[in-house]
Amino acid sequence: MKIAVLGYGTIGSGVVEVLERNGESIAKRAGEEITVKYVLDLREFPGSPIEDMLVHEFSTIAEDEEVGCVVETMGGIEPAYSYVKECLLRGKSVCTSNKALVAKHGAELLEIARQKKINFLFEASVGGGIPIIRPLNQSLTSEEILEITGIVNGTTNYILTKMSQEGATFEAALKEAQDLGYAERNPEADVEGHDAGRKLAILASLSYGMQVDFEDIYMEGITKITDTDFKYAEVLGAEIKLLAQGKKVEDKFYAMVTPKMIREDNPLYSVRGVFNSILVKGNTLGDVMFYGSGAGKLPTASAVVADVIDATKHWGTNITTIWSSKKLALSDHKEAESGFFVRVPEAEEAKAREVFGEVEEVKLSAAAGVVGEFAFLTKKMSEKAFEEKAAKVTVLNRIRTEWTAE
Ligand code: HSE
Repeated sequence: MKIAVLGYGTIGSGVVEVLERNGESIAKRAGEEITVKYVLDLREFPGSPIEDMLVHEFSTIAEDEEVGCVVETMGGIEPAYSYVKECLLRGKSVCTSNKALVAKHGAELLEIARQKKINFLFEASVGGGIPIIRPLNQSLTSEEILEITGIVNGTTNYILTKMSQEGATFEAALKEAQDLGYAERNPEADVEGHDAGRKLAILASLSYGMQVDFEDIYMEGITKITDTDFKYAEVLGAEIKLLAQGKKVEDKFYAMVTPKMIREDNPLYSVRGVFNSILVKGNTLGDVMFYGSGAGKLPTASAVVADVIDATKHWGTNITTIWSSKKLALSDHKEAESGFFVRVPEAEEAKAREVFGEVEEVKLSAAAGVVGEFAFLTKKMSEKAFEEKAAKVTVLNRIRTEWTAE
């Protein structure tokens, strides 16, 4: 199998490295040797091991019939979309780590691959090195998926962990995550929840077999979470995590990315640092959880290479993936229900009690060492009901909770 790599950035160079390091066992598992014939990049890499394979024209790869599989690690929609589509139409399998591309055009690209009896594979687009796409497509096909909840952004989980464990500032933790190569080129995509939103669009589309549009997902990032919130979280025995959640509640579907407080009874509680994890609830299986390195060069590249091996093993046959281009109608996020942790000025305690009714508080601010505030936990309520009540008091901050006092 001769392959080409589009984009020699962090992941693309990782793919070349994994193929080099594990070449012998990869050949055994794939049934044949996998060699990189071309690397496409605009830049020059003098003295590097890919110097002789480097090309600057996509057409060199597209027109070479010897290339059976193309790895796309450029990121972004264009020109990645045009290149990937052309490769598939020319009968080349494609393996990609590009979540923006998969979230937007996954259904169409899968359909082309099906017609051409080749494969469009994207294990690395969600959860980096964690197997989640293949399990959803192959191992969990007997299940009705009731809920899929993931910590799917390494950068934000790294930041929240540093803030929780070391009292680090948001800025310092973000800088570290960027230095370690976890963050997106524009870290706004990480901290505003958009990267997690794209991954959720993919997970929810695969879970429900229909198109979930990124644009329809309600997203809140972590920029409003402060060190004071973490003081309260500690008292509550909670962690604050950016959760990407897809849920089916009766006949309604919800998809949201929001920071939430979770307690030790939640399996995602101990997912720390750059690690990612995805918890799937099936109607007959119950809970199953996937955990591992969700970002970074080699873990992500490992998942891409596993796809290349799969594409090689399945040469001439399409691995069925159910993802129709028909749009799944998501319900308004304002109907979604959760509990809320709320902070108001101390002077508004009586008002807050009156507005929210029965609340759980156990002297939270005193225990957290926060002066001048009244903090409490609400019962389970819809976002809409919460907003109506919150408008009547001065909410300093509020964070949804996964557990609720019934
Ligand atoms: N910026 C992403 C993250 C990279 O932090 O998880 C992996 O998709």
